[in-house]
Amino acid sequence: MSDLLQQKDRKYLWHPYTQMHDYAERDLLLVDRAEGLMLYDPAGRPYFDTISSWWCILHGHNHPTIRAAVHRQLDRLEQVLLAGLTHEPAILLAEQLVERTPALLAKVFFSDNGSTACEIAVKMSLQYWRHRGRPERRMFVGIKRGYHGDTIGTMSLGGVPEFHQAFAGMLFDSLRLPTPYCYRCPMGQTQGACDLECLAPLETLLAQKGSTIAGLILEPLILAAGGMIVYPAAYLTKAAALCRAHGVHLILDEVATGFGRTGTLFAMEQAGVVPDFLCISKGLTAGYLPLAATVTTDEIYDAFYAPYAEGKTFFHGHTFTGNPLGCAAALGSLQVFDQERPFERLAMTIPHLGARLARFKELPWVGDLRQLGMIAALELVLDKETKEPFRTEDRVGWGIYQAGLKEGLILRPLGNILYLWLPISTTVAEIDEITERMYRVIADPANLNGWRK
Ligand SMILES: Cc1ncc(COP(=O)(O)O)c(C=O)c1O
Repeated sequence: MSDLLQQKDRKYLWHPYTQMHDYAERDLLLVDRAEGLMLYDPAGRPYFDTISSWWCILHGHNHPTIRAAVHRQLDRLEQVLLAGLTHEPAILLAEQLVERTPALLAKVFFSDNGSTACEIAVKMSLQYWRHRGRPERRMFVGIKRGYHGDTIGTMSLGGVPEFHQAFAGMLFDSLRLPTPYCYRCPMGQTQGACDLECLAPLETLLAQKGSTIAGLILEPLILAAGGMIVYPAAYLTKAAALCRAHGVHLILDEVATGFGRTGTLFAMEQAGVVPDFLCISKGLTAGYLPLAATVTTDEIYDAFYAPYAEGKTFFHGHTFTGNPLGCAAALGSLQVFDQERPFERLAMTIPHLGARLARFKELPWVGDLRQLGMIAALELVLDKETKEPFRTEDRVGWGIYQAGLKEGLILRPLGNILYLWLPISTTVAEIDEITERMYRVIADPANLNGWRK
């Protein structure tokens, strides 16, 4: 049966972020079922899902509370439009989200994936300024190596050339800040001893063009898809203060960081900032179903609230906006937060993960080790002294991916960045097992194509 499925996969499927040619001679791993941190192939062979199935699984796969919540909902209402109609799971989830986010965030607009959560924030911001009689505020600022999704709008604000270059011709203009990449500081400063010089361009930009800028979009504390670049909380605090001072909207993209992964429910808490728009998805349903939300303030909402004839309606919506099954999964996940008190466990597991990774730094090809909560990344380099990166054609990540599979690990490096993105439910024993296997993978230079002594 597995062989037949593999043949059909090859014949019919086109996989995301995948060069299908890589699989001309080999099969993709066929996943049959999952439990906790483990994925199982049809023969029952287990693999650690060390990247939480693209950063969304939160409490492990197949959690009984979430499964039961979805089953209960399936028996009542699977899908209904959210325009002109409403339903209990969306109402209760919106209430919970408002209660669990800072007081200023008061209204929830649902959608169904991370890209749309961000794109909606951008559209709301733009339309807000028009309603407030400031249509000249229409420029957005992003960050080099920022990533907010794969739609045209979010690609226009992102800055990962590897992903976005092919579409450059169709993207709209926006402004970009230098990356707060402490290991490779764009301002030539030393890690830990700087004065956040990388924010000077934002200060200049706001001083010169602030009145034409609608908003700044940022991933709080870590540029994830751009290379797992962890940056200081002080950067976010200062950027938020600058936005406030110039009346520019702050859009925080917590699609990847939200719901505990960084050690706090939202990463923004560590910088003490509250945005005008909070974008969430992935962990919102603990990874069970596609759902997203853009949470915003009464100030934004009120600018759209007017008699219909005034033309202030927000004309945006997706078929599966606020899908009842997704909302039920999200409510189930929030119930798990209350039942299992994951933050108590994280107080132990986060430092344990750091301690277990320390020895990786000794390897001659590990240039940098970065950690934020249950996310950890190793930047692999050809030369530790000069920080010379691996060449793209070395495909060091591809070698590691395959060696990982042999060790029963799903590792999916981003180029030269090998990372772990662990569920918040991960135990100390699981961290030990994963890091032990991962060490075996990367301590062997044979797994690092192109490494030279
Ligand atoms: C920070 C961030 N924003 C937005 C997205 C886009 O989310 P989606 O893939 O659900 O569209 C991602 C996806 O990885 C992300 O990491």
